Amino acid sequence: MMRTLGFCVLVLLCIMPAGLATRAERNWKFRASGLRIKQQSVCPDKRVSSTRPHSVSITEFGAVGDGVTLNTHAFENAIFYLRSFADKGGAQLFVPAGRWLTGSFNLTSHLTLNLDKNAVILGSQDSKHWPVLDPLPSYGRGRELSGGRHSSLITAFNMTDIIITGENGTIDGQGSIWWDSFHNHTLSYTRPHLVEVVDSTDVFISNLTFLNSPFWNIHPVYCSNVHIESVTILAPSGSPNTDGIDPDSSSYVCIENCYIRTGDDMISIKSGWDEYGIAYGRPSSNIIIRNVTGETPTSAGLALGSEMSGGIRDVQVENLNVYNSRYGIRLKTAPGRGGYVKDIFISKVTLMDVQIALAFTGDFGDHPDDGYDPSALPDVDRISFTDILGSNITIAGYIEGVQKAPFTGICLSNISLNVTSDSAWNCSNVYGFSESVLPLPCAQLQNPIPGSSSVCPFHFSSLGKDM
Ligand SMILES: *[C@@H]1O[C@H](CO)[C@@H](O)[C@H](O)[C@H]1NC(C)=O
Ligand SMILES: *[C@@H]1O[C@H](CO)[C@@H](O)[C@H](O)[C@H]1NC(C)=O
Ligand SMILES: *[C@@H]1O[C@H](CO)[C@@H](O)[C@H](O)[C@H]1NC(C)=O
Ligand SMILES: *[C@@H]1O[C@H](CO)[C@@H](O)[C@H](O)[C@H]1NC(C)=O
Ligand SMILES: *[C@@H]1O[C@H](CO)[C@@H](O)[C@H](O)[C@H]1NC(C)=O
Ligand SMILES: *[C@@H]1O[C@H](CO)[C@@H](O)[C@H](O)[C@H]1NC(C)=O
Ligand SMILES: *[C@@H]1O[C@H](CO)[C@@H](O)[C@H](O)[C@H]1NC(C)=O
Ligand SMILES: *[C@@H]1O[C@H](CO)[C@@H](O)[C@H](O)[C@H]1NC(C)=O
Ligand SMILES: *[C@@H]1O[C@H](CO)[C@@H](O)[C@H](O)[C@H]1NC(C)=O
Ligand SMILES: *[C@@H]1O[C@H](CO)[C@@H](O)[C@H](O)[C@H]1NC(C)=O
Repeated sequence: MMRTLGFCVLVLLCIMPAGLATRAERNWKFRASGLRIKQQSVCPDKRVSSTRPHSVSITEFGAVGDGVTLNTHAFENAIFYLRSFADKGGAQLFVPAGRWLTGSFNLTSHLTLNLDKNAVILGSQDSKHWPVLDPLPSYGRGRELSGGRHSSLITAFNMTDIIITGENGTIDGQGSIWWDSFHNHTLSYTRPHLVEVVDSTDVFISNLTFLNSPFWNIHPVYCSNVHIESVTILAPSGSPNTDGIDPDSSSYVCIENCYIRTGDDMISIKSGWDEYGIAYGRPSSNIIIRNVTGETPTSAGLALGSEMSGGIRDVQVENLNVYNSRYGIRLKTAPGRGGYVKDIFISKVTLMDVQIALAFTGDFGDHPDDGYDPSALPDVDRISFTDILGSNITIAGYIEGVQKAPFTGICLSNISLNVTSDSAWNCSNVYGFSESVLPLPCAQLQNPIPGSSSVCPFHFSSLGKDM
């Protein structure tokens, strides 16, 4: 019975986007995998052309890779020149070995930015080289300060077919000045990201190391078809808000084979903030995260929210390894956010030396301004955790729903956590199911998994919703 249900949902999933889908979106396939009523996912084909018919080196535009000369104009001029190849299969901008200091610059469509293995793009340590932009409509203001926000080091606005790659070349934000300004309260605007892709499609980021971002590292927002593969993201554990990858109001995002060690969440899925996110109404959906490893002593391996006002749905996570971290998987929301988090399927997670394996909070607070609607309650439903192994965990689950909107359909199966404290689980305003979970979860999560299955389903109906 469950199998049939799972299959129906699968068929729906495949048909629904087809009407408006681009060819690339239709390449995104989910296929059933045998008996365990869940699907394995296939990330989209690497449809973006990996070789471009035309290539130039940044040195042809007067750039100097001495770590001192400011190369912003060289990048701008090179990319302006390469725009004329957009309708000829696109072009590549090659960055050879060297230390290439620059301020913010914009990419163009059908462009490959390709770094040599010994190339380092260095972010300027003068904030004037990071111009201030308007806030994103789904946030209504800068994320950390009201008003505008600094442009990211590398940005694509409203573009398509963008590749940023290299043989493990480096993009280094030299973020320490920004972290200091954050700590000594001298920032005027919200800090910039290393790479931000806005309103764009067919984005491929691979084989690079990201170092010392001023703020979040990689921020795809209002995008579809984003593939991030084989990147290493590093920032010191004390560096504020240096999230690894933040898919935000974006769909068809695949993140795989990455190592992330930063001062904030390794990966955080978002979709806008309170009344601004509700009004903009763009969810994050169809997200696959696979084989991601890392650590974050202050934050989570995977976070959902806290900005989730446009909704987060259809997320599949597999092979996530989180070490030496505060939280394994964390869901953050609050009255005022509205939106939803639903149909999230997380499996094959290894946690080691993690304080709280599963941390859900319905009372995160943190509003953009006083204009939020406290009656806009988030809907958290159908979240599955399967095959989770943890050693040296302090607390297995701290699961606190919203009083007027309890979290429902939380499903736990085959979970074994070596918990060092006396109170393994602490739950409130939550309803769900479990099978083979050690230590035994709180009573609210001890109901049998629906459909006489012993494994959490990939998709399932909202049983328990009307408890
Ligand atoms: C990048 O493009 C955006 C949108 O067109 C523009 O507002 C911004 O000034 C550009 N940034 C730079 C550094 O040129
Ligand atoms: C985005 O790009 C498309 C196609 O190039 C163009 O028609 C549209 O006006 C652009 N939108 C914005 C907001 O720049
Ligand atoms: C890329 O470089 C980073 C930083 O030096 C290193 O940790 C990582 O192992 C390298 N990745 C590959 C695939 O060589
Ligand atoms: C705050 O930190 C910034 C960046 O390091 C520095 O330029 C500034 O002088 C500091 N201001 C104060 C008041 O400490
Ligand atoms: C990443 O680099 C490896 C080794 O250089 C190469 O084999 C692979 O094709 C690259 N992958 C992508 C997606 O660029
Ligand atoms: C998993 O990701 C790591 C990088 O964190 C990579 O070295 C490894 O090859 C990947 N494993 C598979 C099976 O692709
Ligand atoms: C257990 O994990 C904590 C971090 O939560 C760490 O500080 C501690 O050293 C670990 N203990 C052992 C025995 O590894
Ligand atoms: C339970 O999960 C572990 C990994 O944590 C896995 O090795 C094992 O095969 C799973 N058991 C079943 C019955 O699927
Ligand atoms: C859990 O910890 C105990 C005591 O530290 C140890 O004997 C046991 O092997 C551990 N179990 C797992 C599954 O790691
Ligand atoms: C659960 O957490 C709440 C709030 O922190 C605390 O008051 C309560 O004592 C905890 N319950 C258990 C059983 O640990």
